[in-house]
Amino acid sequence: MKILLIHSSGKTLMRDWRGEDIQTSWGEVLGSEIGKVKESNKAVPITTSKGEHFLAIKPLLRDIIQKGERGARPLYEYDAGIAGALMSLQNGMVVLEAGTGSACATLMFAQMVHPGKVISFEKDERFYELAKRKLADAVVTNVELHHENLFMAALEENSFDAVFLDLLEEVEAVKKTVSALKPGRFMCVYCPVEAKVDGVVEAMKEKRLVDIEVVDLNLKRHVITGEKSGPCFPGFFVCGRRFKSV
Ligand SMILES: C[S@@+](CC[C@H](N)C(=O)[O-])C[C@H]1O[C@@H](n2cnc3c(N)ncnc32)[C@H](O)[C@@H]1O
Repeated sequence: MKILLIHSSGKTLMRDWRGEDIQTSWGEVLGSEIGKVKESNKAVPITTSKGEHFLAIKPLLRDIIQKGERGARPLYEYDAGIAGALMSLQNGMVVLEAGTGSACATLMFAQMVHPGKVISFEKDERFYELAKRKLADAVVTNVELHHENLFMAALEENSFDAVFLDLLEEVEAVKKTVSALKPGRFMCVYCPVEAKVDGVVEAMKEKRLVDIEVVDLNLKRHVITGEKSGPCFPGFFVCGRRFKSV
Protein backbone atom coordinates (compact mmCIF):
# COMPACT_ATOMS: atom_id res chain seq x y z
CA MET A 1 0.00 0.00 0.00
CA LYS A 2 1.00 3.64 -0.34
CA ILE A 3 1.69 5.52 2.85
CA LEU A 4 2.03 9.27 3.37
CA LEU A 5 4.34 10.52 6.11
CA ILE A 6 3.70 14.15 7.07
CA HIS A 7 6.65 15.59 8.98
CA SER A 8 6.10 18.26 11.65
CA SER A 9 7.82 20.74 9.27
CA GLY A 10 4.97 20.16 6.78
CA LYS A 11 7.17 18.23 4.34
CA THR A 12 5.62 15.01 3.12
CA LEU A 13 6.97 11.69 1.87
CA MET A 14 4.87 9.21 -0.06
CA ARG A 15 6.25 5.66 -0.08
CA ASP A 16 5.28 2.17 -1.13
CA TRP A 17 5.03 0.15 2.06
CA ARG A 18 4.92 -3.62 2.50
CA GLY A 19 5.48 -3.97 6.23
CA GLU A 20 9.13 -2.87 6.43
CA ASP A 21 10.72 -0.05 8.48
CA ILE A 22 11.17 3.17 6.50
CA GLN A 23 14.43 5.15 6.53
CA THR A 24 14.08 8.94 6.29
CA SER A 25 16.52 11.79 6.81
CA TRP A 26 14.63 12.44 10.07
CA GLY A 27 15.32 8.91 11.34
CA GLU A 28 13.79 5.47 11.09
CA VAL A 29 10.03 4.93 11.13
CA LEU A 30 9.05 1.50 12.43
CA GLY A 31 6.94 -0.66 10.13
CA SER A 32 4.95 -1.84 13.15
CA GLU A 33 3.86 1.78 13.75
CA ILE A 34 2.85 2.26 10.12
CA GLY A 35 0.86 -0.98 10.38
CA LYS A 36 -1.51 0.84 12.76
CA VAL A 37 -2.59 3.08 9.85
CA LYS A 38 -3.59 0.03 7.86
CA GLU A 39 -5.46 -1.51 10.78
CA SER A 40 -7.27 1.63 11.97
CA ASN A 41 -7.62 3.52 8.66
CA LYS A 42 -6.84 6.65 10.68
CA ALA A 43 -3.92 9.06 10.93
CA VAL A 44 -1.29 7.75 13.37
CA PRO A 45 1.32 9.95 15.11
CA ILE A 46 4.79 8.41 14.90
CA THR A 47 8.09 9.35 16.56
CA THR A 48 11.24 8.38 14.62
CA SER A 49 14.49 6.93 16.00
CA LYS A 50 15.81 10.54 16.08
CA GLY A 51 12.82 11.83 18.06
CA GLU A 52 11.22 13.57 15.05
CA HIS A 53 7.45 13.59 14.63
CA PHE A 54 5.40 12.36 11.71
CA LEU A 55 1.74 11.81 11.09
CA ALA A 56 1.26 8.68 8.98
CA ILE A 57 -1.87 8.37 6.85
CA LYS A 58 -3.17 6.65 3.75
CA PRO A 59 -2.61 9.21 0.99
CA LEU A 60 -5.60 11.25 -0.09
CA LEU A 61 -6.46 11.70 -3.75
CA ARG A 62 -4.63 15.00 -3.83
CA ASP A 63 -1.45 13.30 -2.58
CA ILE A 64 -1.72 10.56 -5.19
CA ILE A 65 -2.21 13.12 -7.96
CA GLN A 66 0.48 15.58 -6.87
CA LYS A 67 3.10 13.15 -5.61
CA GLY A 68 2.32 10.03 -7.60
CA GLU A 69 3.82 8.74 -10.80
CA ARG A 70 3.19 10.88 -13.88
CA GLY A 71 3.63 10.37 -17.57
CA ALA A 72 1.56 12.52 -19.88
CA ARG A 73 0.90 16.06 -18.67
CA PRO A 74 -1.74 15.66 -15.97
CA LEU A 75 -4.63 17.87 -15.02
CA TYR A 76 -4.28 18.74 -11.39
CA GLU A 77 -7.10 18.10 -8.97
CA TYR A 78 -8.17 21.75 -8.84
CA ASP A 79 -8.59 21.86 -12.63
CA ALA A 80 -10.32 18.47 -12.70
CA GLY A 81 -12.62 19.81 -9.97
CA ILE A 82 -13.59 22.71 -12.24
CA ALA A 83 -14.18 20.31 -15.14
CA GLY A 84 -16.36 18.15 -12.90
CA ALA A 85 -18.41 21.19 -11.92
CA LEU A 86 -18.76 22.31 -15.54
CA MET A 87 -20.05 18.86 -16.50
CA SER A 88 -22.24 18.87 -13.40
CA LEU A 89 -20.96 15.47 -12.31
CA GLN A 90 -22.87 13.79 -9.56
CA ASN A 91 -23.27 10.42 -7.90
CA GLY A 92 -24.28 7.60 -10.19
CA MET A 93 -23.25 9.21 -13.49
CA VAL A 94 -21.29 7.40 -16.20
CA VAL A 95 -18.48 9.49 -17.72
CA LEU A 96 -16.63 8.91 -20.98
CA GLU A 97 -13.03 10.11 -20.88
CA ALA A 98 -10.15 10.19 -23.40
CA GLY A 99 -7.18 10.10 -23.03
CA THR A 100 -6.54 8.79 -19.59
CA GLY A 101 -2.90 10.00 -19.51
CA SER A 102 -1.67 10.08 -15.91
CA ALA A 103 -5.24 9.32 -14.73
CA CYS A 104 -5.38 12.44 -12.57
CA ALA A 105 -8.68 13.72 -13.95
CA THR A 106 -9.92 10.11 -14.02
CA LEU A 107 -9.37 9.77 -10.28
CA MET A 108 -11.22 12.97 -9.48
CA PHE A 109 -14.17 12.17 -11.76
CA ALA A 110 -14.39 8.62 -10.33
CA GLN A 111 -14.80 10.07 -6.84
CA MET A 112 -17.39 12.58 -7.97
CA VAL A 113 -19.62 10.04 -9.71
CA HIS A 114 -19.24 7.10 -7.32
CA PRO A 115 -21.07 4.64 -7.35
CA GLY A 116 -21.27 5.54 -11.04
CA LYS A 117 -18.17 5.06 -13.16
CA VAL A 118 -15.64 6.51 -15.56
CA ILE A 119 -15.00 4.72 -18.83
CA SER A 120 -11.61 5.93 -19.95
CA PHE A 121 -9.64 5.33 -23.17
CA GLU A 122 -5.86 5.47 -23.45
CA LYS A 123 -4.09 4.49 -26.67
CA ASP A 124 -0.52 4.46 -25.39
CA GLU A 125 0.47 1.31 -23.53
CA ARG A 126 2.90 3.12 -21.18
CA PHE A 127 0.24 5.51 -19.99
CA TYR A 128 -2.36 2.78 -19.83
CA GLU A 129 -0.08 0.78 -17.49
CA LEU A 130 0.75 3.88 -15.45
CA ALA A 131 -2.94 4.69 -15.10
CA LYS A 132 -3.64 1.16 -13.87
CA ARG A 133 -1.00 1.57 -11.15
CA LYS A 134 -2.38 4.98 -10.20
CA LEU A 135 -5.92 3.63 -9.82
CA ALA A 136 -4.60 0.75 -7.69
CA ASP A 137 -2.62 3.19 -5.49
CA ALA A 138 -5.74 5.25 -4.91
CA VAL A 139 -7.84 2.10 -4.38
CA VAL A 140 -10.32 3.42 -6.93
CA THR A 141 -12.41 0.66 -8.47
CA ASN A 142 -15.14 2.45 -10.42
CA VAL A 143 -13.04 3.08 -13.53
CA GLU A 144 -13.16 0.96 -16.68
CA LEU A 145 -9.84 1.52 -18.32
CA HIS A 146 -9.53 0.65 -22.02
CA HIS A 147 -6.21 0.35 -23.79
CA GLU A 148 -7.72 1.55 -27.01
CA ASN A 149 -7.66 4.45 -29.43
CA LEU A 150 -10.81 6.51 -28.90
CA PHE A 151 -11.28 6.76 -32.66
CA MET A 152 -11.44 2.96 -32.95
CA ALA A 153 -13.87 2.53 -30.06
CA ALA A 154 -17.49 1.51 -30.55
CA LEU A 155 -19.50 3.98 -28.46
CA GLU A 156 -23.14 3.37 -27.78
CA GLU A 157 -25.41 6.30 -28.65
CA ASN A 158 -26.92 8.36 -25.83
CA SER A 159 -25.13 6.31 -23.17
CA PHE A 160 -22.93 8.79 -21.23
CA ASP A 161 -23.88 11.41 -18.67
CA ALA A 162 -20.74 13.42 -19.45
CA VAL A 163 -17.81 13.39 -21.87
CA PHE A 164 -14.36 14.71 -21.00
CA LEU A 165 -11.66 15.05 -23.65
CA ASP A 166 -7.99 15.79 -23.10
CA LEU A 167 -6.04 14.71 -26.18
CA LEU A 168 -4.39 16.24 -29.23
CA GLU A 169 -7.18 15.79 -31.79
CA GLU A 170 -9.85 17.70 -29.87
CA VAL A 171 -12.05 18.64 -32.84
CA GLU A 172 -12.20 15.10 -34.24
CA ALA A 173 -12.82 13.76 -30.73
CA VAL A 174 -15.80 16.11 -30.25
CA LYS A 175 -17.27 14.82 -33.52
CA LYS A 176 -16.58 11.21 -32.59
CA THR A 177 -18.14 11.33 -29.12
CA VAL A 178 -21.07 13.72 -29.40
CA SER A 179 -23.65 11.06 -30.26
CA ALA A 180 -22.56 8.99 -27.23
CA LEU A 181 -23.57 11.86 -24.93
CA LYS A 182 -27.10 11.81 -23.59
CA PRO A 183 -29.20 14.81 -24.68
CA GLY A 184 -29.13 17.58 -22.10
CA ARG A 185 -25.71 16.51 -20.73
CA PHE A 186 -22.35 18.24 -20.91
CA MET A 187 -19.13 17.66 -22.80
CA CYS A 188 -15.94 19.35 -21.62
CA VAL A 189 -12.76 19.66 -23.69
CA TYR A 190 -9.38 20.72 -22.36
CA CYS A 191 -7.38 22.96 -24.72
CA PRO A 192 -3.80 23.61 -23.59
CA VAL A 193 -3.51 26.75 -25.76
CA GLU A 194 -5.96 29.48 -26.75
CA ALA A 195 -5.35 28.84 -30.46
CA LYS A 196 -7.27 25.57 -30.14
CA VAL A 197 -10.37 27.01 -28.51
CA ASP A 198 -12.09 28.38 -31.64
CA GLY A 199 -11.85 25.06 -33.47
CA VAL A 200 -13.47 23.22 -30.58
CA VAL A 201 -16.23 25.83 -30.25
CA GLU A 202 -16.93 25.53 -34.00
CA ALA A 203 -17.05 21.73 -33.80
CA MET A 204 -19.48 21.97 -30.89
CA LYS A 205 -21.70 24.41 -32.79
CA GLU A 206 -21.61 22.20 -35.88
CA LYS A 207 -22.76 19.29 -33.72
CA ARG A 208 -25.57 21.41 -32.29
CA LEU A 209 -24.21 21.68 -28.76
CA VAL A 210 -25.63 24.66 -26.91
CA ASP A 211 -24.81 26.61 -23.77
CA ILE A 212 -21.17 26.68 -24.91
CA GLU A 213 -18.75 28.37 -22.57
CA VAL A 214 -15.00 28.78 -22.38
CA VAL A 215 -13.25 28.87 -19.02
CA ASP A 216 -9.70 30.19 -18.76
CA LEU A 217 -7.75 28.17 -16.20
CA ASN A 218 -5.48 31.03 -15.36
CA LEU A 219 -5.19 29.96 -11.75
CA LYS A 220 -2.24 31.13 -9.71
CA ARG A 221 -0.87 29.70 -6.53
CA HIS A 222 0.28 32.06 -3.84
CA VAL A 223 3.01 30.97 -1.50
CA ILE A 224 2.29 31.93 2.08
CA THR A 225 5.01 34.57 2.25
CA GLY A 226 2.76 36.62 -0.06
CA GLU A 227 4.90 36.17 -3.16
CA LYS A 228 3.14 34.83 -6.20
CA SER A 229 4.42 31.57 -7.51
CA GLY A 230 4.00 31.01 -11.24
CA PRO A 231 0.71 30.06 -12.82
CA CYS A 232 -0.45 26.48 -12.54
CA PHE A 233 -0.90 24.57 -15.81
CA PRO A 234 -2.55 27.07 -18.13
CA GLY A 235 -5.27 26.12 -20.53
CA PHE A 236 -8.96 26.36 -21.27
CA PHE A 237 -12.01 24.23 -20.82
CA VAL A 238 -14.59 24.43 -23.58
CA CYS A 239 -17.88 23.09 -22.40
CA GLY A 240 -21.15 22.52 -24.24
CA ARG A 241 -24.47 20.81 -23.75
CA ARG A 242 -26.03 18.34 -26.12
CA PHE A 243 -29.30 19.69 -27.45
CA LYS A 244 -30.57 17.02 -29.81
CA SER A 245 -29.59 14.02 -31.88
CA VAL A 246 -27.18 14.71 -34.72
C1 LIG B 1 -2.44 15.15 -21.78
S1 LIG B 1 -2.74 13.49 -21.55
C2 LIG B 1 -4.17 13.41 -20.56
C3 LIG B 1 -3.90 13.74 -19.11
C4 LIG B 1 -5.06 13.42 -18.20
N1 LIG B 1 -6.19 14.28 -18.42
C5 LIG B 1 -4.62 13.49 -16.75
O1 LIG B 1 -5.26 14.24 -15.97
O2 LIG B 1 -3.69 12.80 -16.35
C6 LIG B 1 -3.33 12.98 -23.11
C7 LIG B 1 -3.40 11.48 -23.25
O3 LIG B 1 -4.27 11.16 -24.31
C8 LIG B 1 -3.79 10.01 -24.94
N2 LIG B 1 -4.42 9.98 -26.26
C9 LIG B 1 -4.16 10.81 -27.31
N3 LIG B 1 -4.95 10.51 -28.36
C10 LIG B 1 -5.72 9.46 -27.97
C11 LIG B 1 -6.73 8.68 -28.61
N4 LIG B 1 -7.08 8.94 -29.87
N5 LIG B 1 -7.32 7.67 -27.92
C12 LIG B 1 -6.95 7.40 -26.64
N6 LIG B 1 -5.98 8.10 -25.98
C13 LIG B 1 -5.38 9.12 -26.63
C14 LIG B 1 -2.28 10.21 -24.95
O4 LIG B 1 -1.61 8.98 -25.13
C15 LIG B 1 -2.06 10.82 -23.58
O5 LIG B 1 -1.77 9.85 -22.61
